[in-house]
Amino acid sequence: MIGRRLSPNLALNQLVARRRGDGESIVHLGFGEARLPAFRPLVERLVAGAERSLYGTVAGSTAVREAAAGYFTRRRVAAAPDQIVVAPGSKPLLMALNMVIPGDVLLPRPCWNTYAPQAAYAGKRAFGVPIPDECGGVPEPAALRETVRAARARGHDPRIVVLTLPDNPTGTLAPPSLVREICAIAEEEDLYLISDEIYRDLLHDPARPVLSPAEVVPRRTVVTTGLSKSLAIGGWRIGVACFPDGAWGRDILAGVTSFASEVWSTLAGPMQEVAAYAFAEPVELREHLAAIVRLHGAVAREVHRSTVAAGATCRPPTGGFYIYPDFEPVRGALERRGITDSDSFQRQLLDEFGVAVLAGHHLGDDEGALRFKAATGQLYGETQEQQELALRAEDPLRLRHITETLTRIEESFAKLCR
Ligand SMILES: Cc1ncc(COP(=O)(O)O)c(C=O)c1O
Repeated sequence: MIGRRLSPNLALNQLVARRRGDGESIVHLGFGEARLPAFRPLVERLVAGAERSLYGTVAGSTAVREAAAGYFTRRRVAAAPDQIVVAPGSKPLLMALNMVIPGDVLLPRPCWNTYAPQAAYAGKRAFGVPIPDECGGVPEPAALRETVRAARARGHDPRIVVLTLPDNPTGTLAPPSLVREICAIAEEEDLYLISDEIYRDLLHDPARPVLSPAEVVPRRTVVTTGLSKSLAIGGWRIGVACFPDGAWGRDILAGVTSFASEVWSTLAGPMQEVAAYAFAEPVELREHLAAIVRLHGAVAREVHRSTVAAGATCRPPTGGFYIYPDFEPVRGALERRGITDSDSFQRQLLDEFGVAVLAGHHLGDDEGALRFKAATGQLYGETQEQQELALRAEDPLRLRHITETLTRIEESFAKLCR
């Protein structure tokens, strides 16, 4: 069934833009975008690629697929260029996977707001499985097993598990031990894994161990990633999928490429030029990324501190630019203000305090819970100059334009919970 409403995060982003356009001052924690200037060498590659105006190969040029294969191989996911497909964003690749892999879908709950609608468009059921206390992005293993068995007993066919490593919305990374447990269940229950690793290069501590399920059960894992988040070029739309070696992987890749050929044809030529450069990870790009990561980490930790100071519980963020606080401990104070569920929470934060967040029920969470996602990637300044300053600052939290915004957030949460 095709709906008529925009995806809630994009709808909220447009609402914020409209209200700001009308003169309202809004702190935007409601959209997963890093507000940073495009790195100069990327712009240069884009311009250099402008002459590439013909349709290209559906899966992407050899050069871009070689670069992406190298990118995955350096992350211990050995890949050859013919296991790679590039596309205008990882979103269409995830949709294609939904169309091509048979069976129903198992999702961590909460999870990114697009997984469930995509499954629905593909005619699949989506089963939400609670996440563990320690992190998001993976279902709690015992609950996963139970959900699979219960669904099969009712005649459904859960077959695909989506993992987000690191996670949107919690900003956390599942440890290797948990990933291994999920992989073991996948083997036992004959499940396939889609590992969405779009935040992988945004781990705040680069030494933190990352295990992709593609290292453990390579034949049953497809990995997706892209440049939207790590390099803050979401509007350029560059995504990539890495398919398993072997008969199943080849079949799914053929299906995704066929779908691509009927829907988007190919990734735009200039973007392939950018992607070939970026996936080769030259040293200047790695240094730029390291600066981005430091900034995300510092600001996400500070917003996390504000929510905890106001009385919420919240998993400490370790990757990306999100936190997912739970205000249940201060439910009494919120109820006195008329905030009784996740919907009224989002509404009042915006209307009374001018703070935009995305309510948890949009992410599959309980409507009655007092949880939301705060995306912290838009707090680096309104102008390119401010954003550059933030990127280069030894301590971005001491920059006036950032301090002012963080103080407003802290005061809003504190006042709300008083
Ligand atoms: C977890 C996750 N996966 C995928 C995407 C889609 O990214 P893109 O289509 O820009 O590659 C997003 C964007 O918000 C995301 O948060």
